[in-house]
Amino acid sequence: MSVKYEKLFEPIKIGPVEIPNRVAVLPIRGVVYNIPGISCPDLDYMCFFTRRVRGGFGLIVIEGTATHPFENKYTGGMSYNLYEPKHVAGFKKLTNGIHAFGGKVFLQLSAGGFGRQYPDASGTLLPVAASPIPVNIDPSKMATNEDKTFLKHHLHWATPKEITTAEIYELIESHNNATKLAIQAGFDGVEIHCAHGYFGANFLSPNQNIRTDEFGGSFENRNRWMLESIKACMKAIKEMKAEERFVVGVRTSAEEMTPGGLTKEDVARIHEAAIKEGSSYASLSWGAGFENHMYTHPMKELVPVKVEHAKWFNKRLDIPVIITSLNEPELAAEVADTCDHVIVGLGRQAYADPDWPNKVKEGKTQDIVKCLRCNLGCFINSRLNNGTPEWCVINPEVGYEGYDHANWPTPKKR
Ligand SMILES: Cc1cc2nc3c(=O)[nH]c(=O)nc-3n(C[C@H](O)[C@H](O)[C@H](O)COP(=O)(O)O)c2cc1C
Repeated sequence: MSVKYEKLFEPIKIGPVEIPNRVAVLPIRGVVYNIPGISCPDLDYMCFFTRRVRGGFGLIVIEGTATHPFENKYTGGMSYNLYEPKHVAGFKKLTNGIHAFGGKVFLQLSAGGFGRQYPDASGTLLPVAASPIPVNIDPSKMATNEDKTFLKHHLHWATPKEITTAEIYELIESHNNATKLAIQAGFDGVEIHCAHGYFGANFLSPNQNIRTDEFGGSFENRNRWMLESIKACMKAIKEMKAEERFVVGVRTSAEEMTPGGLTKEDVARIHEAAIKEGSSYASLSWGAGFENHMYTHPMKELVPVKVEHAKWFNKRLDIPVIITSLNEPELAAEVADTCDHVIVGLGRQAYADPDWPNKVKEGKTQDIVKCLRCNLGCFINSRLNNGTPEWCVINPEVGYEGYDHANWPTPKKR
């Protein structure tokens, strides 16, 4: 092993769950073969991830998955479903595969769909969110050509309908059922999606939430959606007696970068409140979603701030923190060396080169196939073509991992 990168490959504990190293695949919704109408993962999907565990990733976080039918109404059917017991078997194959190769696997839970970011292309289904505040995008301020292409095809942001208090409680409760099913399906944890401008984030953010009930107004009230959802998950863990092997975490933005949006300090306080209810890790993305898309999926020039985020939150929070976009091994190593409880999470780079961790571990960093951060295959293709299997412009293997038997787990003695 190259000495320079040693720390990155030390195990780390998230609650009772030991992750074999500090390199994770981030939740990436719409991964290969996730086609609207197909409700649970198939073996091609499993092989996409077993390939990445074979390449050295220690933790896989599976994409935003529906805890309630409401979710898929407001994602255009993009999310897998884990609110019906019949889907446990499909997820079990996925977790068995990942475990067979030595990885750990969490599931991101999503209850409320895209929130105010649901693009109402048809004009017939208005988005539903914490408050009736539409997404506010100035295309002239978008940073890259790909953002403009995306927006040109997708710019139909309508004013959302305000979700009712009764509906909120129903969605919160759905986390309990989904967590029980996730435990049955063999996951090692669940993560509550409150990040980058989607439904959960709409509650947390002071400039996206003007509710007057117990879910809006004060800092405590804006956190209530997240805190009650954690409680519902923790109750499920207790009911299933899984305290020794299963954790809950929360994904938020590290800071929103919008006028009046969440600052780093706000976010640290949000996670401190989450810890009190039982959250065992914080996963941090960046930005407020499409209002400043370039922060959520940063280009290389913006990445150095991720090192700052890592150092700042490592100091501020006592739980493991997942930081995105550190594709450059030198930056990842700097973070691992200086931050004792940070996990490097890779999203798009994990598509481009599933062997990133092993190549770094062996010091063969010159062999890494670098993600172009073009967003063309992984992000825009699936969104524009409504469910076409995703691909990667520089990794033709994406979507075809199932053709390679090396990615199939071998049967083990019971
Ligand atoms: C195709 C695609 C799908 C994504 N889906 C999710 C998701 O389901 N949940 C989530 O929290 N973030 C999602 N993200 C955001 C990523 O997890 C990550 O924060 C972002 O891509 C920045 O990290 P990166 O530079 O390592 O790719 C998605 C990103 C992409 C490109």
